[in-house]
Amino acid sequence: MKPFEIRNRHFDRLFNTPGLMWLGQNTNHFPTHPAVRQAMLDSIAAEEFHAYAPPAGMEELRESILADLALTDASVLVTDGAVEALYIASHALSAPGGTFVTTDPGWKWPMQFAQAAGASVVEIPIYGPEHGWRLSRAQLDAAVDERTRIVYLVDPNNPLGVCYTAAEIEAFTAIARRVGAYFVHDCTYRDFADAHTLAARFYPERTITIYSFSKWLGLAGLRVGALVAAAEVIERIAAAPPNNLGSNVVSQRAAIAGLEVKAEWMPEINRRQRRNQEEIRKAVAKVPGLEIAVYPSQANFLVIECVEAGITPEALCAAFQGKQVMIRQGTYHTPRFGHRFVKVSTTVPEEWADVFCANLPEMAERARGIKDVGPLF
Ligand SMILES: Cc1ncc(COP(=O)(O)O)c(C=O)c1O
Repeated sequence: MKPFEIRNRHFDRLFNTPGLMWLGQNTNHFPTHPAVRQAMLDSIAAEEFHAYAPPAGMEELRESILADLALTDASVLVTDGAVEALYIASHALSAPGGTFVTTDPGWKWPMQFAQAAGASVVEIPIYGPEHGWRLSRAQLDAAVDERTRIVYLVDPNNPLGVCYTAAEIEAFTAIARRVGAYFVHDCTYRDFADAHTLAARFYPERTITIYSFSKWLGLAGLRVGALVAAAEVIERIAAAPPNNLGSNVVSQRAAIAGLEVKAEWMPEINRRQRRNQEEIRKAVAKVPGLEIAVYPSQANFLVIECVEAGITPEALCAAFQGKQVMIRQGTYHTPRFGHRFVKVSTTVPEEWADVFCANLPEMAERARGIKDVGPLF
């Protein structure tokens, strides 16, 4: 069997496991807002899915996304999830001889998109207290030059959960401007942060803001997101997008309804996911050698360091699999630092977080005895 088939079977098995507790993909498993559910039901009842949606997205959705970001001088391309937006940007702007600069850890797929288009990837290490778990201006300054086509910043960072200040974002965009690079600002987790600054505020002409509905609204399986940038930039990079027949109609209706109720929805989601963060923090503190890297996380997940406990992340993931709990091994994010941690997502029903906490001491013990783990992805 080819690796892609093995990987697919793995996720198919997970997807079809009744009662699986999804604490590994930062997806949002709180019950859907009734208005969002109703919008999808209405769309299906009207059978409007027989037609293609407008190629750049429903106008109402495009306007609502801009309003949500409070950006006036920008344009929106609705995509099949943030990942398609990242594909478009990384692919269109990367070329042989160019560099794609990002942090380690960060999100791995855009690096692969850029590499496929011929770019060299420069990863700046930010893992560890010696870096304060975050990118510094000096590091970014040293990593870029006139070959740099893209600076890709995940903010809040996945997996670390750090979020950059307005001053940092201003400095980073000034560095990108100095070398003429595009600033791809992946804001997938911005709604979980106490405060968040859009790079587009400082560098509107070459910032590409990446927008997701998967995490704050819980629409991961519906595949809807967006790329937000100056209209000239979108005209240039999205002349021939992978999906020029428009994104999913039902998903766009759900997204519009979600934006309408966002002000009421997000405070409660954040209250609940921070409660889960707090419970996990307490449970981790009771197991010698385990430690949370960044607390509170400004995103909907926590990094738990397990290297000092003598446990491999893979073994801990495998132990929890036996309890129907999916958590993520660090190597998904970073080959360099992945042996040090697991990541646990917090936008899940309180009972799931509590199952994780209650089982943590026993699973940590069990993980010590697990030597051979099958492939994890
Ligand atoms: C940093 C980051 N960007 C983008 C995505 C993908 O988002 P979407 O589901 O909207 O494609 C993820 C998903 O985990 C992510 O972590």
